[in-house]
Amino acid sequence: MGKVFVTRQTPGRAIEMLHAAGHEVDVWHEPTPPPPVVLAAKLAASDAALTMVVDAITPEMLDGAPNLRVLANMAVGYDNLNPAEAIRRGIAVTNTPGVLAETTADMAWALLMAGARNVVASERDTRAGGWTTWSPTAFLGQDVFGATLGIIGLGEIGEAMARRARGFDMRILYTSRTRKPEAESRLGLEFVSLDDLLRQSDFVSLHTPLSPETRYLIAARELSLMKPTALLVNTARGGVVDQDALIAALRAGSIGGAALDVTDPEPLPLDNPLYSFPNVVITPHIASASLATRSKMAEMAAANIIAVLAGRPAINPVA
Ligand code: NAP
Ligand code: GLV
Repeated sequence: MGKVFVTRQTPGRAIEMLHAAGHEVDVWHEPTPPPPVVLAAKLAASDAALTMVVDAITPEMLDGAPNLRVLANMAVGYDNLNPAEAIRRGIAVTNTPGVLAETTADMAWALLMAGARNVVASERDTRAGGWTTWSPTAFLGQDVFGATLGIIGLGEIGEAMARRARGFDMRILYTSRTRKPEAESRLGLEFVSLDDLLRQSDFVSLHTPLSPETRYLIAARELSLMKPTALLVNTARGGVVDQDALIAALRAGSIGGAALDVTDPEPLPLDNPLYSFPNVVITPHIASASLATRSKMAEMAAANIIAVLAGRPAINPVA
């Protein structure tokens, strides 16, 4: 049986499942991730690792881990795992598609609503004693109902966003690597170019993976195309947006605001200018964070490890 390193405590039955399959399980119990040197040493002593989005796996770590057979990320994104390098070394890389789309879209929707209606700014002001009267002009936001949503990356989460937008009677634009005629007719979507989406949308929501093709997909030029009232919602990855360009656009007032569950880096240092804008909402990468969904994600990662260590194919290989 194998040695499995689990880089954080996980909800659900994942650890029980690994034990029940006869594996020796080493769980990192600290509240912060194992530092790189510790992660390298743990991988060197393991046959499998159940990893989190914050665990950055380097080629050097992989070279130092001759017995490693599978990296099972407790996430649908896997940009942290250096997947090409791992797969080249014969190490399976797995993720958790299918179980988190609705939960993540709920959070993207919450961010969209929060940004549109000044939920966070007004709540902070209320706690600070700013609620001295009812005001006809304070915290005027934007209507979500009937507005135009632009979805960038029409995968599982992008589609879940589109379903929510239908309930708000929105015009729904999308752009993606491939056109999806079936989803267009089922969900009433319009396929447009990235530039047209940015020009026309009141809300732009990002749902691509982070890859060499999508790094800085939204940079200064793209931000300059957005409406001055438009809100950028990012629950994808911080690296999909050029954050310096975003800060410049917010300073210039050339976009209406941003609602970010992901940043670059994470955690976002407290002296980052993004914190200074009242029209920016920032949450700590929690879009999939419901107990039920995080439990399913951990269990799915464990199931992938059990399969690979038993000599079966990975259940959710990324390539
Ligand atoms: P998915 O089902 O694989 O969908 C991703 C979509 O992005 C696909 O439709 C893909 O197009 C499209 N895409 C890929 N490269 C593109 C490009 N260069 N330009 C335009 N579109 C591109 O993934 P998902 O489950 O929706 O998740 C999306 C991402 O959300 C994950 O990779 C992860 O980084 C992030 N995420 C974050 C959280 C969080 O906690 N904040 C939670 C879950 C996921 P094709 O269909 O043509 O391949
Ligand atoms: C979370 O960020 C995920 O990719 O699942």
